[in-house]
Amino acid sequence: MKLRPSRLNTTATCSLATKAQELDSASAQFTTLTPAELQPNTPSRLAGKEFLPGSTGDGFPKVLSPPSETFPHAVRVETHSVDDCVVSCRRYLQENLPQYGAVLLRNLPLKTAADFSSLSQRLGYKGMTYQGGAVEREELDKTSGTYTASDEPPQAVIEHHNEMAYSPVYPSKLLFFCQQEPGEDCGGETPLVKSTDILSRLNPRVLQTFADKKVRYVRYAPPRGPGAYLPWQDVFMTEDPKTAEHFLQQKGFSFKWEPSGALVYWQVLPAFLKHPETGKTVWFNQIQSHHASHLQGMPRFKDSDLPNHHYSCQTYYGDGSEIEPAVLQHIRAITWSCAVGFPWRNGDVLVVDNLAVQHARMSFTGPRRILAMLSEN
Ligand SMILES: [Fe+2]
Repeated sequence: MKLRPSRLNTTATCSLATKAQELDSASAQFTTLTPAELQPNTPSRLAGKEFLPGSTGDGFPKVLSPPSETFPHAVRVETHSVDDCVVSCRRYLQENLPQYGAVLLRNLPLKTAADFSSLSQRLGYKGMTYQGGAVEREELDKTSGTYTASDEPPQAVIEHHNEMAYSPVYPSKLLFFCQQEPGEDCGGETPLVKSTDILSRLNPRVLQTFADKKVRYVRYAPPRGPGAYLPWQDVFMTEDPKTAEHFLQQKGFSFKWEPSGALVYWQVLPAFLKHPETGKTVWFNQIQSHHASHLQGMPRFKDSDLPNHHYSCQTYYGDGSEIEPAVLQHIRAITWSCAVGFPWRNGDVLVVDNLAVQHARMSFTGPRRILAMLSEN
């Protein structure tokens, strides 16, 4: 196991104008972690896995691949305090995130949600609200935009997605913080996959179809009541229907209220974007994770007989036609085939370029607590 140190000289970066509390007392050292150091004892099984949509279908990989030499780019930060390393970390991320798409900072002395919120802000990230979001997560700090990564049941696998790709307003970066690492071989990885890898392996006809037709994202938000999943009051963080309508109008959604009091809303969005920093075309969507078949594969809907349009999320082609099951299976199989995962360690901070990289969540057993901050910049 060979470590390859890459020392970052921050001396030149410190200017007189820099806030005193953000001056590094010394240049923090970043030691690149090898794939062997990020490898799990046992790779997580994928093919045939329960509560993983598509896992019994064609082309599904047997296990989740370990990290490669460059993805994610992972470093151990040699430091004793956040004060000593925050400027170095900020520069390190600025220099490396565009190239790698995902950077893991290990060994940071963080313990609490407040530690993570503070670090995120000092790294220069601006948190955004999860108003209009598609999964259950708890807001921990309104000011910094810190949430639990997901409150979905631990048995469920959350499929790959670009965060909030179902909305015209989405985070540019994501920061994850491991406050409680899962036990060894207990799952709970946050798999990552690069847009470039997906695009190079998806069938060109599938890509062309989505380029032509785009994606129609439809949401169904019931009124609050017993057993209601993601009621509109929770989705829009309000009890006032007019506030929800205003939010939707501002974001360009069409909507209607059903006699039951459910709010249905939809919008057609591209399946691709042009990355504002690299200029590359990226695969940016939630085609499979927003599809009703994703929720149908979740434990909470195991024996449900809900019609498709009463699931909280649904995707179609932009013209309203159904996405063929074979196309969904192809996307799922290719995406999981290109994905990598690593075991979390306490104190890890993972910064992800939300446009260049999709993320997911493996199911897990035992304790695990990952926090997330959605950054607009
Ligand atoms: Fe997510």
